Amino acid sequence: MSPDSRTLRAAAEAPANIALVKYWGKRDPALNLPAAGSLSLTLAALRTRTSVSFEPGLEADHFTLDGRLDAAAAARVSACLDLLRGAAGCRLRARVSSRNNFPTAAGLASSASGFAALVVAAAAALGLPDDPRQLSRWARRGSGSAARSLHGGFVLMHAGSRADGRDAFAEQLAPAAHWPLELVIAVVEPGPKAIGSRAGMAHGAATSPFHAAWVDSVAADLAAARAAIAARDFAALAAVSEHSCLKMHASMMASRPPLLYWTPATLACTERVRALREDDGREVFFTIDAGPQVKAVCRPADAAAVRAALAAVPGVHAVLHSPLGAGARRVEPAQAA
Ligand code: DP6
Repeated sequence: MSPDSRTLRAAAEAPANIALVKYWGKRDPALNLPAAGSLSLTLAALRTRTSVSFEPGLEADHFTLDGRLDAAAAARVSACLDLLRGAAGCRLRARVSSRNNFPTAAGLASSASGFAALVVAAAAALGLPDDPRQLSRWARRGSGSAARSLHGGFVLMHAGSRADGRDAFAEQLAPAAHWPLELVIAVVEPGPKAIGSRAGMAHGAATSPFHAAWVDSVAADLAAARAAIAARDFAALAAVSEHSCLKMHASMMASRPPLLYWTPATLACTERVRALREDDGREVFFTIDAGPQVKAVCRPADAAAVRAALAAVPGVHAVLHSPLGAGARRVEPAQAA
């Protein structure tokens, strides 16, 4: 039977991740190649499950997120599937069903876990080799941060230098067990973000006078973060992570018109984290992505205090938390969306 005459189905689950050394800027928007590397933690508790079935007779790809048709995301999903269809020599369109175990309305990015789950499920359905570098490259084409969600624990994304992007993939630096850390997320704005990362990044590259300096500074931050992780040096990781985050936001704010993702509650949360560290001796630091939510990284022993402190900040709607965990994996289709 040819691959185009039968249904090909598989499912996968992938975790969200949070960057400590941020990705903000591209060296090639068409291939979605990052201008610099990045470094992230993989989260066990925030996950996307996706089932993909390539079906004879379907005229177009069909994508639902949490049971609802998502036309805005469908074009990006189809473009990503085209890469895998090309590699497998398959022309079938697919039915893709995705579910997040965290509220999409919480304003937390789901593109990283979403594209990682999509690529692992589609590759399995099409019988493509289980090659982590290739899967990471395909996930990168969907969303740069998704390349990192293939792996668990502490993950490094390579910017690469090749024009074809073969060297732009993520790999694991250390598994989650290397250094148990926990993430506490303060949700200060439940709605979806006003300007997504992709548009914000393009706007920053085109208009921020700080963008080139930001890109040039990332390699030194990556070296510092890698050394801190290898030595399990919390103070050093806190310093470089908060620096990377605030430097990225400084560049965003210098865009014209400005990109200011913070609300007063965002700033209140960062001040609370600083006070927990400097006045109460808790090991905790913050990071913020292209949105207003504040993500605090801490030791498990300090997690309960950090959760209680952030929940009490005026303007905080909800507090989520997660230990570090494993990367994307195949699951049985029945377990998926
Ligand atoms: C601020 O991966 O969403 O969260 O590659 O255009 O899809 P695209 O961008 P995306 O950008 C994430 C930006 C960030 C920082 C980070 O996760 O490193």
